[in-house]
Amino acid sequence: MNNPALALIPPRIQPPANPLKGLAFLSAFLRNPLEAVPQAVYDEDVSVNAVGGMQRLWVTGPALVKSVLLDDRDKYRKLSQIRLLSPLLGTGILTSEGAEWKWQRQASAPLFRHQELLGFVPTFVRATETLVERWRSAPAGALQPVDRDMTLATFDVISATLLPSADRTVGPAVESSMALFQRAGGWGLLYAILGAPRWLPRPGLISGARATVALRASVAAMLRERRAIEAASGESPDDLLHRLMCARDPESGQSMNDEQLVDNLLTFYLAGHETTARALAWTLYLVARYPDWAARLEEEIERVTGGRPVESAHIERLALVQQVIKESMRLYPPVPLLSRQCVTPTRLGDIEIRPGATVAMPIYAMHRHARRWENPDAFDPTRFAPEREAAIHRYQYLPFGAGPRICIGTAFAMIEATAILATLLQKARFAPAPGREPYPLARVTLLPRDGLPLKVELR
Ligand code: HEM
Repeated sequence: MNNPALALIPPRIQPPANPLKGLAFLSAFLRNPLEAVPQAVYDEDVSVNAVGGMQRLWVTGPALVKSVLLDDRDKYRKLSQIRLLSPLLGTGILTSEGAEWKWQRQASAPLFRHQELLGFVPTFVRATETLVERWRSAPAGALQPVDRDMTLATFDVISATLLPSADRTVGPAVESSMALFQRAGGWGLLYAILGAPRWLPRPGLISGARATVALRASVAAMLRERRAIEAASGESPDDLLHRLMCARDPESGQSMNDEQLVDNLLTFYLAGHETTARALAWTLYLVARYPDWAARLEEEIERVTGGRPVESAHIERLALVQQVIKESMRLYPPVPLLSRQCVTPTRLGDIEIRPGATVAMPIYAMHRHARRWENPDAFDPTRFAPEREAAIHRYQYLPFGAGPRICIGTAFAMIEATAILATLLQKARFAPAPGREPYPLARVTLLPRDGLPLKVELR
């Protein structure tokens, strides 16, 4: 690379200069939905592209995003996300709407309060230590598949916090079902966004359906077993499952039946580990690539923890660690694309929106918008230093979404990622694998396309 300034830019997607049409759009979208997002979306607030007579909008302007996710939210629905995920997640919090969503959200909210979650920090640290122990059996400086390893660690965490007693049966079923979902991801996403019928053949449809049935059955069996154990012993462990079983809608007093418990358990499994794993993997890559930032983090972690295991009281004080995680989620948002479908005629800025229109909000492009970020493609965690962070528009930086459907696990994810990253940096140094730059690929989450190996030097 001749220009030294460019060497500072981590891998990014080169958007098409002009909007793609017809087959070119479909094939780019299937390959990588972000490769179908044209340059204009990074420069303008809204850009319209009509495919097959259907109104389709790319929206990245904060005021417009706010109107879709907050002010005019009743005019839109989450149809494509629900279609894609409801075979697995039924009508749980992520995949329901209206009154059905509201009471489940209200009933579950207390499980995810910041203070309650700090109690899980030892669990986060333990999962990280297990991973580091595994790395110890490899030669010093060996390449480790950090993307896979972060998924294992966050999977351990969600199993240990949701249902510590049952992960031996449920864990492998969730993992294989997730893998199938990702493999069929491009097609599933495309079909869902285009509104194709559910039965339309696509790669992975049948194997995915089989895995889903097996997975739901194993979670239901685990739930029955848990009820039986609790009834026999009169005792119940204080995990998230127990808290969910006791959860009540504050308005009606309603609690969840077994079907709804299965829906939400799977929702937390699915929504709650892969996203955080992606955030951590991309963050480790950036830390490996920018050793000066690694050194600043190490200094902060040593100062705050005194070299002892990370505790709940440290989380707030690991300020630079959190800035780096936030900047990493700006460049590589774990959920790269949100979308809504219009159901009632409305206006979005100057544009009249018709029922059936798809409003796609590419968070990846929003986070690199030319008008809103200085050097949008450069890694600069000081953007999230308190005095600068205050100037970022609420609807310009959305790794967790916004409005009433904002991620319920935001605090969980931030505490978990902070504890895991700080523990990893106490125990290891990371360096890029030569010739193996990761490339962002949008599926349900933002994957490193060919994996993400890093050199790991344990201390
Ligand atoms: C870095 C990690 C995470 C990221 C980036 C993330 C991102 C998101 C985003 C963008 C949404 C909104 C989707 C939309 O509006 O269409 C969402 C919703 C959701 N997330 Fe997360 N998430 C993360 C971690 C978690 C964790 C740890 C949990 C649970 C343990 C979780 C559970 C959920 C649930 C249940 C919803 C649906 C909320 C609702 O519709 O009311 N997420 N997440």
